[in-house]
Parts: sequence; C-alpha cells; structure tokens
Amino acid sequence: MDLGLAGKRAFVSGSTQGIGYAVAEALLREGAAVVVNGRDEERVAAAAERLRAVVPGAEVTGLAADLADAGQTQRLLERLGDVDVLVNNVGTFEVKELADLTDEDWQRHVDLNLMSGVRLSRHLLPRMLAAGWGRVLFVGTESAVDVPAGMLHYGATKAAALALANGLAKLTRGTGVTVNTVLGGPTYSDGVAGTVRHLAEQQGVPEEALKAAIIGANRTTLLERFLEPAEVAHLVVYLASPLASATNGTALRADGGVLTTTV
Ligand SMILES: NC(=O)c1ccc[n+]([C@@H]2O[C@H](COP(=O)([O-])OP(=O)(O)OC[C@H]3O[C@@H](n4cnc5c(N)ncnc54)[C@H](OP(=O)(O)O)[C@@H]3O)[C@@H](O)[C@H]2O)c1
Repeated sequence: MDLGLAGKRAFVSGSTQGIGYAVAEALLREGAAVVVNGRDEERVAAAAERLRAVVPGAEVTGLAADLADAGQTQRLLERLGDVDVLVNNVGTFEVKELADLTDEDWQRHVDLNLMSGVRLSRHLLPRMLAAGWGRVLFVGTESAVDVPAGMLHYGATKAAALALANGLAKLTRGTGVTVNTVLGGPTYSDGVAGTVRHLAEQQGVPEEALKAAIIGANRTTLLERFLEPAEVAHLVVYLASPLASATNGTALRADGGVLTTTV
C-alpha cells in the first residue's frame, strides 16, 4: 500500500531513540523528509546518520533542542520552517509514589509532556490550516486513560495532552488538517529497556526475566508481551498519511489490548 507520504515534510519530537526514532524511520521508508530531534547535537546527528544507513536515500536532518524549554523550542521553530506533519512524540516518565512526587517532578512532566505539544502545535498548526493540509499526531499512552497509581504525574500530564489534541482538532473544521492521538501501551523502547536493564542489574536478575515478570504482572494485556516501537509507529504513520483523511479528533490504540473498554 502506498501511503502517499512521498514529498511530505515531517518533524518528530524526541526521535533520537525509542518510539520517536521508529516513527522517523517509518516515515522515511514512506518517502517523507524527516527532521529528527533530541536534546544533544551529537545524539541527533548520530540518529540521523543511523537513519540514513537503514533507509537508503533518506532525506533526514536534525535539530537539537530541549523541548521542555520555551526559549529553545522557539529557536528550534525558527530554524524548522513549515512542515506537513508534526509528531508530538517527546515525553518523560518515571515510577514515583504520590508522597515522593515534588512540585519539581510535576513541573518537569508538565513542561515536557504537555507544554512541548502546546508550543509546537501553536506555531505549526496555523500554518497547516493556512496551507489547507496537515497532520498533527500525539504519541499518547493508555496511562492517560487508566492512570497508574505509581505514575500520577505521568498519567495526568498525558491526559492533559490527550485533551489538548481533542481541542486542537476542533480548529481544523472544514480543512484538510487532522489532529489525532495514538494511545501506545507498554513498549520496549530504548528508554524502557534502559530502566529495566538498570533494575535487573540492581536486583541481580537477567533482563529477560524481569521483562517477562513486568508484563506478566499486567493483568489486562491481550498481547502478553511488550510492544516493539515500530508497532506503535506504524499506526502513527498511517494517521500521518493522506489515506487517514476521515480520522480526526480521535485517539486510536496501539496498546496491545491493555485498555479493557472500547471507548
Ligand atoms: N515506552 C512506553 O511503554 C510508552 C507507552 C506509551 C506511550 N509512550 C510515549 O511514547 C513517547 C516516547 O517514549 P519512549 O519510551 O520511546 O521514550 P525514550 O525511549 O525514553 O526516548 C525519548 C526520546 O525523547 C528525547 N527527549 C527526552 N527529553 C527530551 C527533551 N526535553 N527535549 C527533546 N527531546 C527529548 C530523547 O532524546 P535525547 O535523550 O537524545 O535527548 C529520546 O529521543 C512518550 O511520549 C511516551 O509517553 C511510551
């Protein structure tokens, strides 16, 4: 199937690794030009280099900026120019109990998980509306709908981003622009793998055993395994394509069946 993405230009926030990197790779494989992002110039350049190696002829460039920071985001937007596709992927997460969560923890999650999407969309969505076509995607999570007790700051800020996407879609009425969210489930991204590896070392158990125990403790997953980043990325890339023209203002799941209701 040709998704019709050749010739489109996309920006993927937080794409030096994990789901963002997989989205960038999948977009490049469809012939889109992609701008990748992370906080560090060298890591951004290395990610672009890796993508060029796996997707021959890939039109990939990079822009480093900390998207939790308003000033750095503004400077990135000045250098970025117009895009057809904005993928609000960047996000941070950690397990921390309510009593241990400081105001700083909450603010860090607000700044990255919510405000990065606010700032990027505020700048880029009006340009898409003026151009008459565009796609804004949010990489969301099942934790926004079924908030984990040990990750309240993560769930609450991702719920806010889900609401943001719903509201932004209302600005697209009668245009060729859409705004949607993909609700991912437990995904063995580089970030999650790093955390599991660290815990496995601390506990003196093999990474694979801990990985299996974590997903085994998830009572609702129908897949009974972690997702691979590409499995989330494929739905994002479909929604980014012209083929998804009738899907707007919604949240679709690539969550392995973790959520137990249909709406
Ligand atoms: N993994 C899961 O189980 C899962 C499930 C559902 C949804 N999600 C969502 O998927 C998204 C990506 O998660 P992931 O697991 O793929 O993450 P990850 O592997 O930890 O990767 C995070 C990416 O974001 C970049 N980044 C981090 N902080 C940044 C900042 N302040 N400014 C710019 N870039 C920044 C990192 O690049 P540098 O380190 O190079 O800066 C990296 O490329 C998040 O929004 C998350 O909520 C994840």
